[in-house]
Amino acid sequence: MGREAESDETYWEDVRSRFLYDEDYVYLNTGSWGVLPRIVYEDLIGELRELERNPKRNCGALARGLESARKRLGTFTCASANDLAFVPNVTLAINTVVNGLDWNPGDEILASDQEYGAIDNCLDNARQRWGVSIRQAKLPIPPDSPDQIVDAFKSGITSRTRLLLCNHITTRTGLIAPIKALSDLAHEHDALIAFDGAHGIGMSPLDLEEVGCDFYGGNSHKWLCAPKGVGFLYASPRVQTRMKHLVVSWGRTPRVRTKPAVALPSTVPRICGAPRRGERCAGRLSRRPGPRSPFSRRSDRIGLPHEASRWPLTSVRVCKDLDWIDLLPPTHPEMSGSITTLMLKAQSGPNIGHALFNRYRITAPVSCEVDGQSIRVSTHIYNKREEVDRLVEALIELRQAS
Ligand SMILES: Cc1ncc(COP(=O)(O)O)c(C=O)c1O
Repeated sequence: MGREAESDETYWEDVRSRFLYDEDYVYLNTGSWGVLPRIVYEDLIGELRELERNPKRNCGALARGLESARKRLGTFTCASANDLAFVPNVTLAINTVVNGLDWNPGDEILASDQEYGAIDNCLDNARQRWGVSIRQAKLPIPPDSPDQIVDAFKSGITSRTRLLLCNHITTRTGLIAPIKALSDLAHEHDALIAFDGAHGIGMSPLDLEEVGCDFYGGNSHKWLCAPKGVGFLYASPRVQTRMKHLVVSWGRTPRVRTKPAVALPSTVPRICGAPRRGERCAGRLSRRPGPRSPFSRRSDRIGLPHEASRWPLTSVRVCKDLDWIDLLPPTHPEMSGSITTLMLKAQSGPNIGHALFNRYRITAPVSCEVDGQSIRVSTHIYNKREEVDRLVEALIELRQAS
């Protein structure tokens, strides 16, 4: 997919119109939540309506839909459906891993110093509960190469390290970690490895078989644009018997009739394919996943949206010429994706996120930091370059007015 497709405006307008995107605003925050495709919204409401008409009778269909969604998620991530469980979010997925393993005092967990705050809290809880030591691998900002990430972890491993934990893609700078190399590193040292894939699925290709990790927690409600509250946990068959159950219900033994733990619309994994160029959108975002569905294996994996979700972000490059803005994301092509952070140096005063929203109708999260304010910009296939241009112009105007 090259420049020609990138500039095919009619095509991308059509893609955009398939989402419930509010045209009165600019939404640059898929890093928090993705915008729902219309067809998923309609399915979701339709299935809820159907369920509520006769909850007991109709829940069976929902359970079957859940099973088929799990299979499609397995195809999409190159994992067996048996090794995947739906959970409401990645926080629960990682808590299930950390709280489900057996720990002895003095065991170590090695995590990066760029984990998400909620996950740091989960680790701190393990420290308090079982006397586990939490060590941090310091990742450079920005890193020059994937090897630097592997080296940062390598130098933090000791003979007591039992688990490595790392974001697949960091929340702040959008750094894409070398997950296969990190898995290999963990296993060379007889440690387990878990990835926090809150941003991974849908932004970056994911082949769990090839990566070979022990655990991968994902959020489908960000880059995969699934309904809010849809995440998953992958646990490799090697480690499943080592896990203690946090919640026990139906499905404990194979002989007991299995019931789904979470009622989930069967629509979930249907939604992330965008049409190929020249194909009608309705064909790709259709209800029936056919042989060319976005969830069929490798060759048809959604290279197009992965790449396309980054295009609008290229507009931030002009900020390189502004000496009051630093760009924080990695520049290495294997490590940068659809999230970037702009650091407004020495920006004092109130959080400019309010002005961005109230005056310019732009949604992008802003954090006040010691040395300025940072804005995280995350784009998807429904964003346009002009929207990122608008953000940059707004920042320049706000700067001139201050
Ligand atoms: C890297 C990372 N991990 C975990 C989370 C937590 O996601 P959730 O609250 O959906 O569990 C986020 C949320 O943005 C995140 O960016």
